[in-house]
Amino acid sequence: MWAERSRRPNGAGCAEPRQTALVSLNIAIAGDLHGQWDRHDALVLESAAADALLVVGDLSDGDCRYARELADLTLPVACVLGNHDTGWDRSGGRLERQIALLGERHCAWRSRGWSEPALAVVGARAGSAGGGFRVSPAVEAVYGPMSCQSSADRIIAAALEAPLDQPLVLLAHCGPSGLGSEAADPCGRDWQRPARDWGDQDLSIAIHTIRRQRPVDLVVFGHMHHRLRRGGGTRRSLHVDRSGTAYINAACVPRHQRDPAGNSLHHFSWARFESGALSELSHRWYDRSGRLLYRESLLNRPPDAPRARTTASPATGSRHL
Ligand SMILES: [Fe+2]
Repeated sequence: MWAERSRRPNGAGCAEPRQTALVSLNIAIAGDLHGQWDRHDALVLESAAADALLVVGDLSDGDCRYARELADLTLPVACVLGNHDTGWDRSGGRLERQIALLGERHCAWRSRGWSEPALAVVGARAGSAGGGFRVSPAVEAVYGPMSCQSSADRIIAAALEAPLDQPLVLLAHCGPSGLGSEAADPCGRDWQRPARDWGDQDLSIAIHTIRRQRPVDLVVFGHMHHRLRRGGGTRRSLHVDRSGTAYINAACVPRHQRDPAGNSLHHFSWARFESGALSELSHRWYDRSGRLLYRESLLNRPPDAPRARTTASPATGSRHL
């Protein structure tokens, strides 16, 4: 069985007990790859019995091999490419080639549309570099011109088509604005003072609009690396808002590390759903054979805990639970 040693491979934090309970749905999340994906990552997914893989983009700087490797995986994959995936090619050619390789797995502004697992995954804007709303020439070349509102509208439309009886996950490269303006917040700018909220406004608008009609269970993103610049420590990677929507920043970069004992570590964030409800979020580090070595628990919800819910409609003042 898996042994768990401490909260993070650097030894910070408290030991976590091993989780052996049966799970309904295990969703692995790969934070910004930045060129770090190999056959051992695929082995981890198999060993850990992941039901699907969510990839938040920044696979590399436009190298198509990573899109190919993700497309070769046998489990369901959903991905939204990030700002680095343009490969500094303003024509959008490199971005487009990776989108083609990923095929249905790339779900920017649309639902992933798989039949299994029973989880609705809707992608946000491709190629985001955060900072509110900025669209690179490469993204515009591929997807056409857009405004903040039109981008939000596309996310909203895709989400509202998703089956209501399935939990809804929004997948993005950068998270939404509104999660805090300190450097260590999930989308806080840490590389330049003053710190500020560097989240995406179109995604924030989309979340608030979608929730008038259906709950948003989980928002998954990366881009803002966990390790803060200037020795600023570690970013807060979990946020839960008043509607019960959970947000996880999966950007543990580099995602391949070694622990003090010299073990190779492969990072995945992890989401577990039980009976259609989000029950667990964590960061996990596996060795090359797929053994879970470290686990940082972020969220554990008992089965009877309140679920994510819709919010009051400004038009009617009604509240749907
Ligand atoms: Fe990025």
